[in-house]
Amino acid sequence: MKKRIAVLASGRGSNFQAVIEAIQDEKIPATCIALITDNPKAYAIERARNAKIPVVIIDYSMFPSRELYECALLSAMQKTEADLFVLAGYMRIIGAAIVRSFPGKMVNIHPALLPSFTGLHAQRQAVQYGVKVSGCTVHFVDESLDSGPIILQHCIAVQEGDDEDSLAERILKHEHECFPEAIKLFCEDRLEIVGRTVRIR
Ligand code: GRF
Repeated sequence: MKKRIAVLASGRGSNFQAVIEAIQDEKIPATCIALITDNPKAYAIERARNAKIPVVIIDYSMFPSRELYECALLSAMQKTEADLFVLAGYMRIIGAAIVRSFPGKMVNIHPALLPSFTGLHAQRQAVQYGVKVSGCTVHFVDESLDSGPIILQHCIAVQEGDDEDSLAERILKHEHECFPEAIKLFCEDRLEIVGRTVRIR
C-alpha cells in the first residue's frame, strides 16, 4: 500500500522537488496528496502545480494571531488524512497541539548536524563557529525546536574559504539525497522510534 504524504513548505521548495522526483521515479512508495504552504508567493506552489499536486494556501499574514493560524493549519492537515507530513523548508515553528496530533508522523530536514546549530541560519552558525564538518539531518518532529529523534544524517567537510552560501549549496545537494531516502524508509515501514533513537529495520 502506498503511503499518503503531505508536504509543508514556505519558499523555494527544492527539497519538495527532490521528493516529487523520487516519487515519480518510484523510489518512494507514496503519493504526494497535498502541498500546504503559509506563503502565497512560495515557489513551491509552482512546483506542486507542475506535478499536479493539490495546493492548500494558509496565508499566515491573513490571521490575527498565531493561535488562529495554527487552528486553520491543524484542520487543513487533518483533512489531508496523510500518513506522513514532510516539513520541507517550512519556516515556522510547529505548535505543540499540531505535533501532538500526529505523533511519529512528521519529519523535518535541517541543514546542520543536529544537535548543533538549531534554528535559523544553521549554515552561517556553522561557518562562524569554525566547525570542520557539517551536513544535514532528517528527524522526526517533537515539541522542541529541531530536537526529535534522528533518522538520517549526511556529513560533509567544511573547506577553507567556505562562506554561508558555499556551504549551504554543498549541504543542499546532500539534503536532496538524504530527505527522499529517509521518507522512503518511513514509507516502507522500516523506521521504529525507540526513545531518542530511530532504528532502521
Ligand atoms: C533547506 O536548507 C532545509 O534544510 C531548511 O530550509 C531549506 C529549504 O530549502 N529547513 P528548499 O525550500 O527546500 O529549497
